[in-house]
Amino acid sequence: MADSPTTDFDTVDYFTDQSLVPDPHPYFDHLRSKCPVVREPHYGVLAVTSFDEATTVLKDTDTFSSCIAVGGPFPPLPFTPEGEDITDQIEAHRSQLPMFEHMVTMDPPQHTHARSLLNRLLTPRRLKENEDFMWRLADECLDDFLADGRCEFLSAYAKPFSLLVIADLLGVPESDHDEFRHVLGAPRPGAIVGSLDGDQLAMNPLAWLDEKFVGYLQDRRENPRDDVLTALATAKYPDGSTPEVIDVVRSATFLFAAGQETTTKLLSASLRVLGDRPDVQAALRQDRSRIPTFVEEALRMDAPVKSQFRLAKKHTELGGVDVPAGTTLMVCPGAVNRDPVRFEDPHTFSLDRKNVREHIAFGRGVHSCPGGPLARVEGRVSLERILDRMSEITIDEEHHGPADDRRYTYEPTFILRGLTALNIRFTPVR
Ligand code: HEM
Repeated sequence: MADSPTTDFDTVDYFTDQSLVPDPHPYFDHLRSKCPVVREPHYGVLAVTSFDEATTVLKDTDTFSSCIAVGGPFPPLPFTPEGEDITDQIEAHRSQLPMFEHMVTMDPPQHTHARSLLNRLLTPRRLKENEDFMWRLADECLDDFLADGRCEFLSAYAKPFSLLVIADLLGVPESDHDEFRHVLGAPRPGAIVGSLDGDQLAMNPLAWLDEKFVGYLQDRRENPRDDVLTALATAKYPDGSTPEVIDVVRSATFLFAAGQETTTKLLSASLRVLGDRPDVQAALRQDRSRIPTFVEEALRMDAPVKSQFRLAKKHTELGGVDVPAGTTLMVCPGAVNRDPVRFEDPHTFSLDRKNVREHIAFGRGVHSCPGGPLARVEGRVSLERILDRMSEITIDEEHHGPADDRRYTYEPTFILRGLTALNIRFTPVR
């Protein structure tokens, strides 16, 4: 659906106006056409929509802090910025900022410390074992609904698949996987929600995860075994010191928050393209070696994280625009990935785009997504097995309308870009 013709891009509130949700790109293009760094009128946020300025911000941790990475202007800063350098003010108020305990909002050197724990988990060996699990998991998820010849793809496949890949990465025993599916909103088809203990379901899923992992890790510290959870429980910081259990737990549980929704959005955007572009589907069926480029182009066209935030610690200048200390910057991967200076014919999905990997869907700099390699493999494995086991994938017109008048609904958020549902039809391959 195109943007509403009545939307005035100079006055619209990007953060709350639902008319920008179905297709934010006309708005992003409008911002870029005014200036790659432009102040929106409602919260004074500087929107960064071009490649060069975006990568400058993301790479310069001396000038730009991640302390507001997740919420941007919400909630407002708990202090009034004063002077040319607000580094000390940020540190004094850090614990009042949302998600301050997670690495995504930290700045070096604390960030370096927290990320080092994750680097111990994401070893080539662990990623290889995780990929082996993915091939098996893809088939198990498909087995649950394939015979129907139709499905709502997010709940049938994308959500459980992306959830259980992270569970496996962290070494969650398979006997606990169904419990994770229930609590984290991806129940097995036909499972009776409520068959689990009611209190558990009423819980905040992230609090439940923290508690679950504290239990796993304390147990592994007391009774080490030859498993991933023991490796996590006994991981040390580079200086040889042992982290508190809760710090390891936060690194682990944050992966669910960071990796499940985003990968679900990548997988569903990919399937939408297969359904809407029979030519692309045919090209992939004919030559599977094009799948990795397809995944990159899906990330470029529909960056699951459409905006990410930074706070100017120091007075600076960006793209010729004055940036006082305390300014909130919104770097828009969704817009940057369609910057015409960088990407030719940027609004067209193309399997032949040579520089497609220059997209910034996984960010840049020290916070660039550590799950990027994993998400790419999730995309490749899923597409391989889906193309193997479903022929003639089409969009279900009962739900989304005919090819020339599709109706898709996207999550109403200013940070993420993803379908709320995707109904497809296909012929099962026996
Ligand atoms: C298509 C899927 C994904 C996309 C588009 C994506 C995107 C991003 C982006 C843009 C950032 C940078 C945030 C910032 O700089 O403020 C990020 C950070 C992060 N992502 Fe992903 N992500 C995806 C999948 C995953 C997966 C599968 C995992 C884990 C298994 C993961 C774990 C993380 C973590 C832990 C961070 C924080 C890193 C840090 O602050 O140093 N992501 N992701």
